[in-house]
Amino acid sequence: MRGFSGMVSDDQVGHLFRVARRAFTDPDILARERDTIFDHCWLYVGHSSEIKSKGDYVTRSVGGREIIFNRDRDGKVHVFLNTCPHRGATVAREPQGNAPGFRCFYHGWSFHSDGRFAAKFPDGNYGESHYEGGCANLSQAPQLAEYRDFWFLNFDAGAEDLETYLGDSREIIDLVADQGEDGMEIVAGNPVYDIHANWKLLAENSIDGYHAHLTHKTYIDYLGHVGNMRIDETLGLGGTSRDLGNGHAMVEYPAPWGRPVARWVPSFGDDKKAMIEARRDQLVVRYGEARGLRMANMNRNMLIFPNLVINDIMANTVRTFYPVAPDHMQVSGWALGVVGEDPALRQLRLFNFLEFLGPGGFATPDDVEALEACQRGYRNQREAGWNDISKGMPREGTKKHDDEEQMRAFWRQWDKRIGSLA
Ligand code: FES
Ligand SMILES: [Fe+2]
Repeated sequence: MRGFSGMVSDDQVGHLFRVARRAFTDPDILARERDTIFDHCWLYVGHSSEIKSKGDYVTRSVGGREIIFNRDRDGKVHVFLNTCPHRGATVAREPQGNAPGFRCFYHGWSFHSDGRFAAKFPDGNYGESHYEGGCANLSQAPQLAEYRDFWFLNFDAGAEDLETYLGDSREIIDLVADQGEDGMEIVAGNPVYDIHANWKLLAENSIDGYHAHLTHKTYIDYLGHVGNMRIDETLGLGGTSRDLGNGHAMVEYPAPWGRPVARWVPSFGDDKKAMIEARRDQLVVRYGEARGLRMANMNRNMLIFPNLVINDIMANTVRTFYPVAPDHMQVSGWALGVVGEDPALRQLRLFNFLEFLGPGGFATPDDVEALEACQRGYRNQREAGWNDISKGMPREGTKKHDDEEQMRAFWRQWDKRIGSLA
């Protein structure tokens, strides 16, 4: 009943699932998370569309490392550790760019776009064998793989392959990736913000179908007032939650609001109605009625363990979040759009992205406040030490989207990974 780590209590007979609040506050737990989770799981790096052309690169932090995600002069994708083999300086210092290679600003060592050291120093500066074995080249991430244009790295050279790791989450990635006939693309711009709360609170919150009507009541009321709510009774009012394997989980439910991909609502304007309905019909032609309408009308919030969120709701969002300290995380968000999308639909999509999902939108500040309130509450953990995540446990069969099965899926995996060192 008490799991691998002693911090998750999973009583399937008594229908009680609890997580120790120490998991959100203890620096030793964070150290174990770095060792057992971030050093061994597949972590999202970026999307193919961010490095479309040869020489394109972006720099970012992934799993506590500084990395360069680039496409070399032959079109091959790499992830390099952004540290000079000479004395360690970061060799790429811009957030993004296009370059035939990289040159370290400190002493000038330079590298081809495939990471090879670009020249040998004149005789006498270094020993004959100095360049053997690539010791002057940029270091690469131990594993790098792609699924449907989403690139992931793994710092564990022996970890299972990406597709196996992704498990059933691939079905949901497909539902997003297939929305564009010519694929999907990250739209320029990348909000980065900090939350003074433990990173796992956002993992839970991202697939929490229980809080929206209370926490985001202002937004829901606003949507009703501007004509962006359209409940379609034929879709059924309920939703489902699913454990997708390996700690990945999702909720799926009929969209009560507009979806620029293919679900029109009055606030989008009459001038766009025909265009959006034509897009919905194309999805049905391409993928059949059941899947096409599912893509058009259903919302999906998915967490890929440990920290990648793909939200396919009023807009498409990709989001990662990393711990800085037990009570502090940094979040990065990207908007995902249909390649070749009509500018009017792209505008709606970006408006929705900012209106709800951006750090200054209607919803994210609500969530930030809720998460920080939880973290403050954990100061009482000696007297009040456990979270309750039991909702829906007695329900047989399909779980509802406002049950908490999806969060239990995350925590069972977390417990297994973290307990592997216990
Ligand atoms: S640290 Fe990069 S050249 Fe010296
Ligand atoms: Fe929320």
